[in-house]
Amino acid sequence: MNITDLSSKKGLIIGIANNTSIAYGCARVLHEHGCTEIIATYQNQKAYSHLKEACDQIGLTNLIEFNYTDEESVANLFNYVKEQYGTIDFVIHSMAFADPQSLHGRVVDCSSHGFAQSANISCYSLIACAKQAEKIMPNGGTILTMTYIGADKVINNYGIMGPIKACLETTVAYLANELAQDKIRVFAISPGPIQTRAASGIANFDQLLNNAHLNSPMRRTVTIDEVGNLSAFLISNMSSGMTGQVIYVDGGYFLIG
Ligand SMILES: NC(=O)c1ccc[n+]([C@@H]2O[C@H](COP(=O)([O-])OP(=O)(O)OC[C@H]3O[C@@H](n4cnc5c(N)ncnc54)[C@H](O)[C@@H]3O)[C@@H](O)[C@H]2O)c1
Repeated sequence: MNITDLSSKKGLIIGIANNTSIAYGCARVLHEHGCTEIIATYQNQKAYSHLKEACDQIGLTNLIEFNYTDEESVANLFNYVKEQYGTIDFVIHSMAFADPQSLHGRVVDCSSHGFAQSANISCYSLIACAKQAEKIMPNGGTILTMTYIGADKVINNYGIMGPIKACLETTVAYLANELAQDKIRVFAISPGPIQTRAASGIANFDQLLNNAHLNSPMRRTVTIDEVGNLSAFLISNMSSGMTGQVIYVDGGYFLIG
């Protein structure tokens, strides 16, 4: 088994906003390891203008617009994937949303609508993807999502996304248990703070970055390529005996956070 050879793998990466996106780092690393059959999604035409050139640079040409609204939007996306590739080996789900009012307020003040919308987009969308992926992964595969330590510990300014990520992590555990019989392995990757478009929506995000620099055992932040490296390992056959975990790539911050 050669971990660096992902040339036999085909898959879907959801959530490229620009060349700082975690999804972009994953796509770049997978491509570097020989995975050329990747379909990647962007949310709307405005995003497309920001990412087209960057995606061209890494040989990522099969781009499709995907705006998650409900199960049907996911079914449509996977129909496209099926038309293109027939079957796939991996899905990377790298998307989350909370409206600013819910994100910036106290959890105790979050509205039912704000909570439900964030849970739907950030968590239920993974379930909808897994349901569709199961149909086109006859040989098994890997489903990855992105979480954050705010699921487990109270992190200032992370607000409602903390409970939502906790829901996501538990969803990963249940999906991993249910899909293991199909040889589909499911993981949550938990990166440390990275300056991305989504991160810029979190108040005082600079403090999280500084804290990682000052207090993580490795005394630094991580890069989107380091998240990509972990995704390559989890998609490769080298991780064949693993499923269901939350795996931190955060310079060891989880030890002390
Ligand atoms: N940046 C960090 O510090 C950090 C740390 C841990 C986890 N994460 C998680 O990583 C994932 C990716 O975020 P990122 O930091 O790369 O930011 P990003 O802004 O680059 O990516 C977020 C993506 O989510 C997509 N998205 C949001 N709502 C959507 C919808 N309704 N339909 C389709 N797509 C939608 C956006 O279009 C965007 O491409 C998120 O789940 C985020 O919570 C980020």
